[in-house]
Amino acid sequence: MNAPSAVNLDLDALVSAARARFAQAHASADLENAKAQFLGKAGRVTELMKGLAQFSIDEKKTRGAAINQAKQSIEAALAERRQQLAEQQLEEQLQAEALDVTLPGRQRGAGGLHPVSLAWERIVQIFGSMGFDVADGPEIETDWFNFTALGNPPNHPARSMQDTFYVDLQDENGQPYCLRTHTSTMQIRYAAAYARRHAAALRRGEVGEIRVIAPGRTYRVDNDATHSPMFHQVEGLWLGRDVSLKDLKVMYLDFCKAFFEADDLMMRFRPSYFPFTEPSAEIDIQFQSGPLAGKWLEVSGAGMTHPQVLRNMGLDPERYQGFAFGSGIDRLAMLRYGVADLRLFFEGDIRFLAQFG
Ligand code: PHE
Repeated sequence: MNAPSAVNLDLDALVSAARARFAQAHASADLENAKAQFLGKAGRVTELMKGLAQFSIDEKKTRGAAINQAKQSIEAALAERRQQLAEQQLEEQLQAEALDVTLPGRQRGAGGLHPVSLAWERIVQIFGSMGFDVADGPEIETDWFNFTALGNPPNHPARSMQDTFYVDLQDENGQPYCLRTHTSTMQIRYAAAYARRHAAALRRGEVGEIRVIAPGRTYRVDNDATHSPMFHQVEGLWLGRDVSLKDLKVMYLDFCKAFFEADDLMMRFRPSYFPFTEPSAEIDIQFQSGPLAGKWLEVSGAGMTHPQVLRNMGLDPERYQGFAFGSGIDRLAMLRYGVADLRLFFEGDIRFLAQFG
Protein backbone atom coordinates (compact mmCIF):
# COMPACT_ATOMS: atom_id res chain seq x y z
CA MET A 1 0.00 0.00 0.00
CA ASN A 2 1.66 3.10 -1.27
CA ALA A 3 -1.08 5.59 -0.96
CA PRO A 4 -1.14 6.15 2.85
CA SER A 5 2.62 6.66 3.05
CA ALA A 6 2.41 9.09 0.13
CA VAL A 7 -0.31 10.89 2.01
CA ASN A 8 1.79 10.89 5.16
CA LEU A 9 4.72 12.32 3.25
CA ASP A 10 2.54 15.09 1.85
CA LEU A 11 1.23 15.76 5.32
CA ASP A 12 4.72 15.93 6.79
CA ALA A 13 5.64 18.44 4.09
CA LEU A 14 2.50 20.40 4.86
CA VAL A 15 3.34 20.52 8.57
CA SER A 16 6.91 21.67 7.79
CA ALA A 17 5.59 24.28 5.36
CA ALA A 18 3.27 25.58 8.06
CA ARG A 19 6.11 25.65 10.60
CA ALA A 20 8.33 27.56 8.14
CA ARG A 21 5.55 30.00 7.31
CA PHE A 22 4.76 30.61 10.99
CA ALA A 23 8.45 31.19 11.72
CA GLN A 24 8.46 33.95 9.08
CA ALA A 25 5.69 35.79 10.84
CA HIS A 26 7.17 38.43 13.13
CA ALA A 27 3.99 40.17 14.09
CA SER A 28 0.82 38.58 15.40
CA ALA A 29 -1.30 39.99 12.54
CA ASP A 30 0.98 38.25 10.06
CA LEU A 31 0.79 35.03 12.07
CA GLU A 32 -3.01 35.13 11.93
CA ASN A 33 -2.80 35.43 8.11
CA ALA A 34 -0.48 32.46 8.04
CA LYS A 35 -2.92 30.52 10.19
CA ALA A 36 -5.71 31.23 7.68
CA GLN A 37 -3.56 29.80 4.87
CA PHE A 38 -3.46 26.44 6.63
CA LEU A 39 -6.35 26.17 9.03
CA GLY A 40 -8.83 28.69 7.63
CA LYS A 41 -12.03 27.90 5.70
CA ALA A 42 -10.16 27.90 2.42
CA GLY A 43 -6.93 26.72 4.02
CA ARG A 44 -4.93 23.72 2.95
CA VAL A 45 -5.97 21.42 5.79
CA THR A 46 -9.61 22.18 5.13
CA GLU A 47 -9.06 21.43 1.41
CA LEU A 48 -7.61 18.07 2.33
CA MET A 49 -10.61 17.29 4.54
CA LYS A 50 -12.96 18.16 1.70
CA GLY A 51 -10.92 15.91 -0.61
CA LEU A 52 -11.75 12.88 1.63
CA ALA A 53 -15.17 12.63 0.01
CA GLN A 54 -13.76 10.70 -2.94
CA PHE A 55 -12.30 7.92 -0.76
CA SER A 56 -13.79 4.76 0.61
CA ILE A 57 -14.95 4.55 4.19
CA ASP A 58 -11.77 2.75 5.32
CA GLU A 59 -9.52 5.16 3.54
CA LYS A 60 -11.53 8.05 4.91
CA LYS A 61 -10.75 6.72 8.36
CA THR A 62 -6.98 6.39 7.92
CA ARG A 63 -6.54 9.50 5.80
CA GLY A 64 -8.86 11.48 8.04
CA ALA A 65 -6.90 10.41 11.10
CA ALA A 66 -3.60 11.34 9.43
CA ILE A 67 -4.93 14.73 8.37
CA ASN A 68 -6.26 15.34 11.87
CA GLN A 69 -2.89 14.54 13.32
CA ALA A 70 -1.23 16.95 10.86
CA LYS A 71 -3.82 19.55 11.79
CA GLN A 72 -3.00 19.10 15.47
CA SER A 73 0.72 19.45 14.72
CA ILE A 74 0.05 22.64 12.79
CA GLU A 75 -2.11 23.96 15.62
CA ALA A 76 0.62 23.13 18.07
CA ALA A 77 3.19 24.89 15.86
CA LEU A 78 0.88 27.90 15.67
CA ALA A 79 0.40 28.00 19.45
CA GLU A 80 4.14 27.68 19.95
CA ARG A 81 4.84 30.54 17.56
CA ARG A 82 2.17 32.68 19.18
CA GLN A 83 3.81 32.10 22.51
CA GLN A 84 7.22 32.99 21.06
CA LEU A 85 5.92 36.21 19.56
CA ALA A 86 4.20 37.20 22.80
CA GLU A 87 7.39 36.60 24.75
CA GLN A 88 9.41 38.54 22.21
CA GLN A 89 7.01 41.43 22.40
CA LEU A 90 7.14 41.42 26.19
CA GLU A 91 10.94 41.31 26.02
CA GLU A 92 11.02 44.32 23.66
CA GLN A 93 8.66 46.23 25.90
CA LEU A 94 10.78 45.47 28.94
CA GLN A 95 13.88 46.61 27.06
CA ALA A 96 12.19 49.83 26.02
CA GLU A 97 11.01 50.58 29.52
CA ALA A 98 14.19 49.35 31.14
CA LEU A 99 15.40 51.11 34.25
CA ASP A 100 19.15 51.20 34.49
CA VAL A 101 19.51 50.92 38.23
CA THR A 102 23.29 51.33 37.93
CA LEU A 103 22.82 54.93 36.67
CA PRO A 104 24.02 57.35 39.36
CA GLY A 105 21.07 59.12 40.99
CA ARG A 106 20.32 62.75 40.21
CA GLN A 107 21.98 64.77 42.91
CA ARG A 108 20.14 67.65 44.40
CA GLY A 109 22.39 70.55 43.32
CA ALA A 110 24.25 72.23 46.12
CA GLY A 111 23.00 75.63 44.92
CA GLY A 112 24.77 78.89 45.54
CA LEU A 113 24.20 82.58 45.89
CA HIS A 114 23.64 84.78 42.86
CA PRO A 115 26.67 86.99 42.11
CA VAL A 116 24.60 90.09 42.84
CA SER A 117 23.64 88.59 46.20
CA LEU A 118 27.29 87.77 46.86
CA ALA A 119 28.25 91.39 46.14
CA TRP A 120 25.31 92.63 48.23
CA GLU A 121 26.34 90.51 51.23
CA ARG A 122 29.93 91.68 50.89
CA ILE A 123 28.82 95.32 50.84
CA VAL A 124 26.64 94.86 53.93
CA GLN A 125 29.45 93.08 55.73
CA ILE A 126 32.10 95.73 54.94
CA PHE A 127 29.91 98.73 55.77
CA GLY A 128 28.70 96.87 58.83
CA SER A 129 32.29 96.67 60.02
CA MET A 130 32.45 100.48 59.60
CA GLY A 131 29.47 100.96 61.86
CA PHE A 132 26.75 101.41 59.22
CA ASP A 133 23.22 100.31 59.97
CA VAL A 134 21.34 98.53 57.14
CA ALA A 135 17.91 99.83 56.09
CA ASP A 136 15.26 98.49 53.75
CA GLY A 137 12.24 100.20 52.20
CA PRO A 138 9.54 100.16 49.53
CA GLU A 139 10.25 99.75 45.83
CA ILE A 140 6.95 101.41 44.88
CA GLU A 141 7.44 104.98 45.98
CA THR A 142 5.64 108.27 46.25
CA ASP A 143 6.81 111.21 44.21
CA TRP A 144 7.88 112.89 47.45
CA PHE A 145 10.47 110.31 48.48
CA ASN A 146 11.77 109.56 45.00
CA PHE A 147 11.96 113.14 43.72
CA THR A 148 10.58 116.14 45.56
CA ALA A 149 12.18 115.60 48.98
CA LEU A 150 15.45 115.07 47.15
CA GLY A 151 15.41 118.56 45.63
CA ASN A 152 13.75 117.38 42.48
CA PRO A 153 10.21 118.90 42.38
CA PRO A 154 7.75 118.35 39.51
CA ASN A 155 8.93 120.01 36.29
CA HIS A 156 12.50 120.22 37.54
CA PRO A 157 14.78 119.45 34.56
CA ALA A 158 16.85 117.02 36.68
CA ARG A 159 13.89 114.62 36.63
CA SER A 160 14.77 113.68 33.08
CA MET A 161 18.07 112.25 34.37
CA GLN A 162 16.05 109.22 35.40
CA ASP A 163 13.40 107.84 33.12
CA THR A 164 10.78 106.38 35.37
CA PHE A 165 8.16 103.62 35.48
CA TYR A 166 4.91 105.00 36.88
CA VAL A 167 2.19 103.04 38.62
CA ASP A 168 -1.46 103.74 37.85
CA LEU A 169 -2.19 104.98 41.40
CA GLN A 170 -1.95 108.44 42.95
CA ASP A 171 -0.44 109.45 46.25
CA GLU A 172 -1.96 111.98 48.69
CA ASN A 173 -0.51 114.86 46.61
CA GLY A 174 -2.17 113.64 43.42
CA GLN A 175 1.16 112.45 42.04
CA PRO A 176 1.47 108.98 40.52
CA TYR A 177 3.38 106.34 42.44
CA CYS A 178 6.57 105.24 40.70
CA LEU A 179 9.03 102.38 40.89
CA ARG A 180 11.91 103.99 42.74
CA THR A 181 14.66 105.09 40.36
CA HIS A 182 17.30 105.07 43.08
CA THR A 183 17.78 104.09 46.70
CA SER A 184 18.19 107.76 47.67
CA THR A 185 14.54 107.50 48.78
CA MET A 186 15.93 105.71 51.82
CA GLN A 187 18.01 108.73 52.87
CA ILE A 188 14.80 110.61 53.50
CA ARG A 189 12.84 107.70 54.99
CA TYR A 190 15.59 106.66 57.36
CA ALA A 191 16.67 110.16 58.46
CA ALA A 192 13.05 111.33 58.87
CA ALA A 193 12.30 108.31 61.06
CA TYR A 194 15.43 109.12 63.05
CA ALA A 195 14.31 112.74 63.45
CA ARG A 196 10.86 111.65 64.66
CA ARG A 197 12.38 109.19 67.08
CA HIS A 198 14.77 111.80 68.50
CA ALA A 199 12.42 114.79 68.27
CA ALA A 200 12.90 115.79 71.92
CA ALA A 201 16.69 115.59 71.79
CA LEU A 202 16.75 117.51 68.51
CA ARG A 203 14.63 120.26 70.08
CA ARG A 204 17.18 120.51 72.88
CA GLY A 205 19.83 121.06 70.21
CA GLU A 206 21.55 117.72 70.63
CA VAL A 207 23.29 116.26 67.58
CA GLY A 208 23.51 112.54 67.10
CA GLU A 209 24.75 110.53 64.17
CA ILE A 210 23.13 108.74 61.28
CA ARG A 211 25.20 106.11 59.56
CA VAL A 212 23.22 103.84 57.28
CA ILE A 213 23.34 101.96 54.02
CA ALA A 214 20.26 100.89 52.07
CA PRO A 215 20.81 98.21 49.45
CA GLY A 216 17.91 97.36 47.18
CA ARG A 217 16.23 97.06 43.83
CA THR A 218 15.76 100.10 41.62
CA TYR A 219 14.08 100.66 38.25
CA ARG A 220 14.58 102.82 35.19
CA VAL A 221 13.43 102.76 31.59
CA ASP A 222 16.80 101.55 30.32
CA ASN A 223 18.04 98.39 28.64
CA ASP A 224 21.46 97.68 27.11
CA ALA A 225 24.72 95.91 27.98
CA THR A 226 25.31 98.10 31.03
CA HIS A 227 21.71 99.04 31.93
CA SER A 228 18.76 96.91 32.87
CA PRO A 229 15.20 98.08 33.69
CA MET A 230 15.70 96.56 37.15
CA PHE A 231 19.04 96.92 38.87
CA HIS A 232 20.47 97.26 42.35
CA GLN A 233 21.90 100.17 44.24
CA VAL A 234 23.30 100.69 47.66
CA GLU A 235 22.67 104.05 49.21
CA GLY A 236 24.91 105.36 51.94
CA LEU A 237 24.20 108.23 54.31
CA TRP A 238 26.42 109.58 57.05
CA LEU A 239 25.21 112.65 58.90
CA GLY A 240 26.50 114.24 62.10
CA ARG A 241 27.91 117.44 63.53
CA ASP A 242 31.01 117.68 61.32
CA VAL A 243 30.96 114.80 58.84
CA SER A 244 32.94 116.07 55.86
CA LEU A 245 33.92 115.28 52.29
CA LYS A 246 37.22 114.04 53.67
CA ASP A 247 35.34 111.37 55.64
CA LEU A 248 33.57 110.34 52.46
CA LYS A 249 36.86 109.98 50.61
CA VAL A 250 38.57 108.00 53.32
CA MET A 251 35.57 105.83 54.01
CA TYR A 252 34.78 105.09 50.35
CA LEU A 253 38.39 104.30 49.48
CA ASP A 254 38.55 101.90 52.43
CA PHE A 255 35.35 100.28 51.24
CA CYS A 256 36.65 99.80 47.68
CA LYS A 257 39.97 98.37 48.85
CA ALA A 258 38.13 95.86 51.01
CA PHE A 259 35.47 95.04 48.42
CA PHE A 260 37.93 94.43 45.59
CA GLU A 261 40.72 93.14 47.85
CA ALA A 262 43.07 95.62 46.15
CA ASP A 263 45.22 97.70 48.46
CA ASP A 264 46.81 99.74 45.66
CA LEU A 265 43.44 100.74 44.20
CA MET A 266 43.22 104.44 43.24
CA MET A 267 40.20 106.68 43.48
CA ARG A 268 39.21 110.07 42.11
CA PHE A 269 36.25 112.41 42.47
CA ARG A 270 34.87 114.08 39.34
CA PRO A 271 32.59 117.11 39.77
CA SER A 272 29.00 116.23 38.96
CA TYR A 273 25.45 117.28 39.65
CA PHE A 274 22.67 115.79 41.75
CA PRO A 275 19.73 117.84 43.00
CA PHE A 276 20.14 116.51 46.55
CA THR A 277 23.88 117.03 47.09
CA GLU A 278 26.11 120.09 46.93
CA PRO A 279 28.88 119.75 45.95
CA SER A 280 28.32 116.54 43.99
CA ALA A 281 30.77 114.09 42.50
CA GLU A 282 31.11 110.90 40.53
CA ILE A 283 33.55 108.49 42.13
CA ASP A 284 35.91 106.62 39.81
CA ILE A 285 38.32 103.88 40.77
CA GLN A 286 41.36 102.47 38.99
CA PHE A 287 42.92 99.03 39.44
CA GLN A 288 46.71 98.81 39.26
CA SER A 289 46.75 95.16 38.22
CA GLY A 290 44.44 92.64 36.60
CA PRO A 291 42.49 92.85 33.33
CA LEU A 292 40.96 96.26 34.12
CA ALA A 293 44.23 97.92 35.24
CA GLY A 294 44.81 101.51 34.21
CA LYS A 295 41.22 102.42 33.34
CA TRP A 296 39.10 104.84 35.36
CA LEU A 297 35.84 103.11 36.20
CA GLU A 298 32.81 104.93 37.52
CA VAL A 299 31.35 103.25 40.60
CA SER A 300 29.26 105.81 42.47
CA GLY A 301 27.51 109.12 42.66
CA ALA A 302 28.08 111.07 45.86
CA GLY A 303 28.07 114.45 47.49
CA MET A 304 27.45 116.55 50.58
CA THR A 305 23.80 116.44 51.58
CA HIS A 306 21.97 119.60 50.46
CA PRO A 307 20.65 121.82 53.31
CA GLN A 308 17.11 121.69 51.94
CA VAL A 309 17.26 117.89 51.91
CA LEU A 310 18.31 117.99 55.58
CA ARG A 311 15.28 120.19 56.30
CA ASN A 312 13.04 117.74 54.41
CA MET A 313 14.39 115.03 56.72
CA GLY A 314 13.44 117.13 59.76
CA LEU A 315 17.06 117.97 60.60
CA ASP A 316 18.56 121.43 61.18
CA PRO A 317 21.24 122.17 58.52
CA GLU A 318 22.90 124.51 61.06
CA ARG A 319 23.59 121.48 63.27
CA TYR A 320 23.78 118.57 60.86
CA GLN A 321 25.96 117.97 57.84
CA GLY A 322 27.24 114.96 56.02
CA PHE A 323 27.32 113.05 52.80
CA ALA A 324 25.48 110.51 50.74
CA PHE A 325 26.56 108.14 48.04
CA GLY A 326 24.78 105.77 45.72
CA SER A 327 26.63 102.89 44.09
CA GLY A 328 25.45 100.28 41.61
CA ILE A 329 25.63 96.85 43.24
CA ASP A 330 25.48 95.13 39.85
CA ARG A 331 28.25 97.41 38.61
CA LEU A 332 30.42 96.51 41.61
CA ALA A 333 29.67 92.81 41.01
CA MET A 334 30.57 93.12 37.31
CA LEU A 335 33.92 94.68 38.19
CA ARG A 336 34.68 92.24 40.95
CA TYR A 337 33.76 89.11 38.97
CA GLY A 338 34.84 90.32 35.51
CA VAL A 339 31.38 90.20 33.90
CA ALA A 340 31.12 92.30 30.72
CA ASP A 341 27.36 92.29 30.16
CA LEU A 342 24.96 93.26 32.94
CA ARG A 343 22.11 91.30 31.35
CA LEU A 344 23.86 88.00 32.15
CA PHE A 345 22.97 88.59 35.79
CA PHE A 346 19.25 88.49 35.06
CA GLU A 347 18.92 85.79 32.40
CA GLY A 348 19.01 82.95 34.93
CA ASP A 349 21.36 80.81 32.80
CA ILE A 350 22.57 78.12 35.18
CA ARG A 351 25.87 77.73 33.26
CA PHE A 352 26.66 81.35 34.05
CA LEU A 353 25.42 81.29 37.61
CA ALA A 354 27.16 78.02 38.52
CA GLN A 355 30.53 79.74 38.06
CA PHE A 356 29.96 81.73 41.22
CA GLY A 357 29.10 78.77 43.49
N1 PHE B 1 20.84 108.55 43.49
C1 PHE B 1 21.91 108.88 42.57
C2 PHE B 1 21.70 108.10 41.29
O1 PHE B 1 21.03 107.13 41.31
C3 PHE B 1 23.26 108.55 43.14
C4 PHE B 1 23.61 109.39 44.35
C5 PHE B 1 23.30 108.94 45.60
C6 PHE B 1 24.25 110.59 44.22
C7 PHE B 1 23.63 109.71 46.72
C8 PHE B 1 24.60 111.36 45.28
C9 PHE B 1 24.29 110.92 46.55
O2 PHE B 1 22.22 108.45 40.25
